[in-house]
Amino acid sequence: MSQHSAAVLRASRAPLVVSSVPDAEPGAGEVLVRVRAIAVNPVDWVIQGTGSVTYRWLRYPAVLGSDVAGEVLAVGAGVTRFRVGDRVFGLATGTDRGRDPMREGAFQETTVLLERLTAATPSGVSDAEAAVLPLGASTAACALFQPAHLGLRMPGDAAVPEGERGVVVVWGGSTSVGMNAVQLARAAGYDVVSTASPRNAALVRSLGADVVVDHGDARAVEHLVEGIGGRRVVGAVALGTTSAAACIEVLRRTGGSVLAMASTPVSLDGLAGRRRLFPAMLPVFTRVGLTMARLTLRARRAGIRSAFVWGSSLRDDEVGRRLWSEVLETGLADGTLRPVPEALVVGEGLGSVQTAIDRQRAGVSAQKVVVTL
Ligand SMILES: NC(=O)c1ccc[n+]([C@@H]2O[C@H](COP(=O)([O-])OP(=O)(O)OC[C@H]3O[C@@H](n4cnc5c(N)ncnc54)[C@H](OP(=O)(O)O)[C@@H]3O)[C@@H](O)[C@H]2O)c1
Repeated sequence: MSQHSAAVLRASRAPLVVSSVPDAEPGAGEVLVRVRAIAVNPVDWVIQGTGSVTYRWLRYPAVLGSDVAGEVLAVGAGVTRFRVGDRVFGLATGTDRGRDPMREGAFQETTVLLERLTAATPSGVSDAEAAVLPLGASTAACALFQPAHLGLRMPGDAAVPEGERGVVVVWGGSTSVGMNAVQLARAAGYDVVSTASPRNAALVRSLGADVVVDHGDARAVEHLVEGIGGRRVVGAVALGTTSAAACIEVLRRTGGSVLAMASTPVSLDGLAGRRRLFPAMLPVFTRVGLTMARLTLRARRAGIRSAFVWGSSLRDDEVGRRLWSEVLETGLADGTLRPVPEALVVGEGLGSVQTAIDRQRAGVSAQKVVVTL
């Protein structure tokens, strides 16, 4: 069987090692892609560092990674939207429960994507630029459009009727997910208020937020409430460890009633970087569990429906189908959506993927760490 190179995680908490793995054939509804650029997300270092606890279903060896751009090498049965040679980008879901991380992980020379989670890359967009979008845009779309979360109208739907108009709160508008949430909510016809560090405020405004307050400011909640200025709040998307508590407060004061939480309320960064997971994980996961329970209770008492977002949960639903087959392609083509955040290319070749993961864990500001292949 022919082989290609992959950045392989051989065991939980091991460093990635570049090695040869068997080529895959695309099955029905799948496309085989020659990967030209990958981007890194916080979940990659979370899985590498804590997967034995947080991703217990993952079997090793595994290929991690969600964000892929490249070109189609082969298509499986029933694929109608793509042909061999097309430039595409897509969401790799290999680390999800029930999927195959060796076939479907991003960090390898060739990978298998689902046609329904793949879009054509417009001619003016490079592979490095396209690779920044998949998990950020997908997570934002889950939070904004899935009925279990804000359940808003999607871009391309009929204009939001007067009575349903309103403002979306995006706490963490300069994160990768947040920037996509701001521009997707705006493209769907909603007003957006958001938070960012002052250095990123103009960027978040340029994506469509009419108010951007500093999330480092002790009075950020008050400033957001002032910025909302009595408009109807249709929900909040919380990004960042302290974001859920802040959003509950904003919603409570403005009469909003839906909260989509995408971040754990305690960072797993310290754990992921440790040489040993035990016993340091015990107080951290206890804090995560207790804080989540407290936040859920506080939200419920304030009449707010809250739920945790899972960015790849759109794999089988209408939000995923529409995001990937309509919204991204149309929005990138007509300029209502941009490939954000800006790509920070930290290396070329699979040997650079571990560096990229470490770079993302060290912290980024309005940039997406990318490796080109
Ligand atoms: N549940 C899911 O399926 C899912 C999927 C993807 C991501 N996530 C989570 O969503 C969060 C964002 O992920 P990402 O990849 O978008 O992150 P990212 O781009 O790596 O986030 C970096 C940004 O965080 C911002 N930030 C710093 N302090 C903040 C604060 N107090 N409140 C809000 N934002 C703050 C920084 O903005 P400034 O520089 O402007 O301060 C920086 O630009 C992470 O917690 C990640 O784990 C969840």
